[in-house]
Amino acid sequence: MARRRQVYEGKAKVLFEGPEPGTYIQHFKDDATAFNAQKRGTITGKGVINNRISEYLLLRLQEIGIPTHLVRSLNMREQLVRQVEIIPVEVVVRNVIAGSLATRLGMTEGTPLPRSIVEYYYKSDKLGDPMISEEHITCFGWAEPHELDEIFSMSLRINDFMSGLFAGVGIRLVDFKLEFGRWYHDEDVRVILADEISPDTCRLWDMATDEKLDKDRFRRDLGKVVEGYQEVARRLGVLREAPTAGNGQATAAS
Ligand code: TMP
Repeated sequence: MARRRQVYEGKAKVLFEGPEPGTYIQHFKDDATAFNAQKRGTITGKGVINNRISEYLLLRLQEIGIPTHLVRSLNMREQLVRQVEIIPVEVVVRNVIAGSLATRLGMTEGTPLPRSIVEYYYKSDKLGDPMISEEHITCFGWAEPHELDEIFSMSLRINDFMSGLFAGVGIRLVDFKLEFGRWYHDEDVRVILADEISPDTCRLWDMATDEKLDKDRFRRDLGKVVEGYQEVARRLGVLREAPTAGNGQATAAS
């Protein structure tokens, strides 16, 4: 059914042309990849859950003054978003040693950091998203210095706010990844938060047991993948009932 034009297909989402100029429809798929798409799978129901979780988090962030691309949720798998020019930098904020930080520096996963760390990666599948410094970002013009200042301060604010929000439901925000874009609006340009925030893009551990409730369950073959995502949604109060078959089955298929 060619009812709308696809603009872009990523690993976990598809963008369609939106109903009004300057908008896209962001569609959340059940596809999952890891290690730069060397590992692929399907997590049945993930798209529905991530749509809900990301909508909830972006709305809460908007309430504290973080500008985001979210206009409104459309249905179980889709949201209307503002068209932005994606800044090709992935921002990772870390509160606890885990993942590539633990591997790269030979450190023990689970050790809390004395202060939050902000890292930057160049968004390039071809190069495997290499880590970069602020110098690279400004030298190669991926972001202007003032844009990078905004990205840095927004990222720390998002971290503070989300750490508290998740702690309130018994979840430790270990680390997460953000993407930002330039929104051209009223002859002005603003850096706003784009993409998604979900268990695909965060490490979320149960505070009492350290159980992983995020995409590491898929990356590391821990099983019960969608159950982890559902638990996050349930605690945030965004998934009151189990999604119905077709829209999201409560089973993992990875
Ligand atoms: P890392 O420890 O593998 O560098 O990941 C840090 C955080 O960023 C973690 O919460 C997962 C998230 N992330 C993504 O959202 N996309 C990616 O491609 C990668 C590598 C990590």
